[in-house]
Amino acid sequence: MQSITRFQTMKAAQQKISMVTCYDFWSAQLVAESAVDSILVGDSLAVVMHGFPSTVHATLDLMLPHVAAVARGAGDKIIIADMPFMTASSDVSSGVAAATALIQAGAHAVKIEGAKHQRTLIAHLVEAGLPVVGHLGLTPQAVLQLGGHRVQAKTEATAKVLCQEAEQLERVGIAALVLECVPAKVASLIAQSLDCPVIGIGAGPGCDGQILVSHDMLGLYTKFHPRFVRRYAELGESMREAFGEYIKDVQSGSFPNQDESY
Ligand code: KIV
Repeated sequence: MQSITRFQTMKAAQQKISMVTCYDFWSAQLVAESAVDSILVGDSLAVVMHGFPSTVHATLDLMLPHVAAVARGAGDKIIIADMPFMTASSDVSSGVAAATALIQAGAHAVKIEGAKHQRTLIAHLVEAGLPVVGHLGLTPQAVLQLGGHRVQAKTEATAKVLCQEAEQLERVGIAALVLECVPAKVASLIAQSLDCPVIGIGAGPGCDGQILVSHDMLGLYTKFHPRFVRRYAELGESMREAFGEYIKDVQSGSFPNQDESY
C-alpha cells in the first residue's frame, strides 16, 4: 500500500525525496519505471496540458480524469493531487467533497495551497485520515493577488511569517510541505525546524526533496523558463524533428515501405 508516511522515513534517514508532476497515463508509466519517489498531479496541468494562462482554471472536473489516468499508469508511486482553485477556500464540506473525489480517483494524498483559513480544512482532513501536503511560498493559485510569479519571503518580516505558517501547518498535521520560490536560506531553515519533509521548487538545496514540473524539465513547455528549472531533455525539439522527418517521408513516398505494409 502506497503511503506518504514513507517520506517521513526518508527524511529521518536523510534520503532526498524526488518528485515530478505527471498528468497522463503514458508519462506515469515512464515515471513508474524510474526511481522517482512520487508523482504530483499538479493543477499546473491547466497551463501545460490545457493552455490556460494560470492554475486558477484547473477545476475539479478538469483534474479528476488526469488523476485517474495517472493512477492507472503509476505502479507503486505515491500520487499527490492538487486541490484545485478555491476548493480549499470555501466551506469544509465542499473541501471534503473535493478531497474525497481526488482520493477516489486514485490519489494517496492531496496538496493544499495556503495556511490561513485553509488550516481548518487541513486539520479536518488529517483527523479524518486523509494525508495532506501543504504548499507555501509562491502559491500559484494566488497569482492574481501576488501580481506574478515572484520570489517570496525575501525580507526578514515576510520570512518570519512564512516560518510561522509552516509551523502552523505542521501543528495541524501536514504530511509534507512544498515550498515554492523562496530564498534557499529560508527554505533550509524551515526544513531543519520541521519534522515533516519539505519539498522544494525554486527553494534551494537545503530542502528534504525536490519537485519539478515534468514539462519544464523535459523541454516540453518552453514559454516560461524560471531559473530554478534544470532542463534534463529537449523533448519538444525531438518531437519537432520527428514530425519534420515524418512529413518528408510521407511527401517523398518513402513511408510506408514494403516492410511497413501488408
Ligand atoms: O501544480 C504544480 O505543478 C505544483 C508544483 C509547481 C509544485 O504545485
